[in-house]
Amino acid sequence: MRRLAGRATLVAVGAAAVLGAAAGQSVAAPPPATGDDVQPQVVGGVRAAQGEFPWMVRLSMGCGGAMYTQQLVLTAAHCVGATGNNTGITATLGAVDLQDPNRITVRSNYVYRSPGYNNPDGDDWALIRLERAVDVPTLAVADTPAYDNGTFTVAGWGAATEGGGQQRYLLKADVPFISDAQCQSAYSDLVPAEEICAGNWDDGGVDTCQGDSGGPMFRRDNAGAWVQVGITSWGIGCARPENPGVYAQTSHFASAIAAAAATLGGGTPPPTCATVASTTRVAIPDAGAAVNSPIDIAGCTGAASSGSRVEVNITHTYRGDLQIDLVAPDGSTYRLKNTSGSDSADNVNETYAVNLASETANGTWQLRVRDVFAADTGTLDGWKLSV
Ligand code: ARG
Repeated sequence: MRRLAGRATLVAVGAAAVLGAAAGQSVAAPPPATGDDVQPQVVGGVRAAQGEFPWMVRLSMGCGGAMYTQQLVLTAAHCVGATGNNTGITATLGAVDLQDPNRITVRSNYVYRSPGYNNPDGDDWALIRLERAVDVPTLAVADTPAYDNGTFTVAGWGAATEGGGQQRYLLKADVPFISDAQCQSAYSDLVPAEEICAGNWDDGGVDTCQGDSGGPMFRRDNAGAWVQVGITSWGIGCARPENPGVYAQTSHFASAIAAAAATLGGGTPPPTCATVASTTRVAIPDAGAAVNSPIDIAGCTGAASSGSRVEVNITHTYRGDLQIDLVAPDGSTYRLKNTSGSDSADNVNETYAVNLASETANGTWQLRVRDVFAADTGTLDGWKLSV
């Protein structure tokens, strides 16, 4: 909702409808697209799987966000009020279904809105501090422009069609990068150094939309870990051809975000020293001995991170049979998953957050998987460790 003056009214109206905030703004149906721009106005997403994007946050004012630390949510400046104490926001996380009985809800206690916001080039980012830390994995913010290209993933509970309602289930979609030059041909007021655009230029059809603001745009880094490159900010309509989505460019703001986070407390950002994957497949014997799969970490200094992450990929026909532990180089064990007689679902594709601050990062780590109960069986397909 920033820079409303001079900006296409459609964006302002849509955002006001979702946020229900901006006093005095009328809430109206979006005007129809004109001429050649008429297209099926859908975001073009599909449902995300439970646990696929474990750092995704839904905010009560109708925005998205991503866990930056276990107590700080990175979102858009236009989603929040001024910097200061704020207990008025509820974050919902840990579930793709906003009505999931296992969802986690936590209230805010402080908002930090980018001081550059409201300037002519207002920076559209903010941090929300939660009243307590939540044990979910965090999403690393790209601090280099190296990842500002390629195909990105966007996700949110916002409208699935232009002018449509908010979603109960988290949707995701892939959107290609659009260069600043091309994006400026749609939006003359784009701030190229601070904003990054994405969408299908010619055909539209895939985009974020009202209610997705503040949520992350992300991709895999060179080590295969998710990294956030954008924060959903604005666009004209949704998914229209030649009107891509515009995102705050996190590589530009990474150091400002980190500095603000340091003043807020609320935990350390995601691990940055190393992410190492193992793709060695290991059969898991039925009701048998534990199997181990090693990952070697080298070149880090000191301790592993309090926000370390372990991504586990197991094919199994009854995952409740499985007990999973991470074993540190010195032999200390961290339970990632217990058995559960009632969890008959297939497979484990999950990212676990582990506080490894008391462990030395370098050395050989093991993922230890044991199938405790008879009948179903499976294979460890691979795992990934970020320390
Ligand atoms: N400002 C909108 C919000 O508050 C997000 C709009 C994104 N629009 C787009 N076409 N990508 O939710």
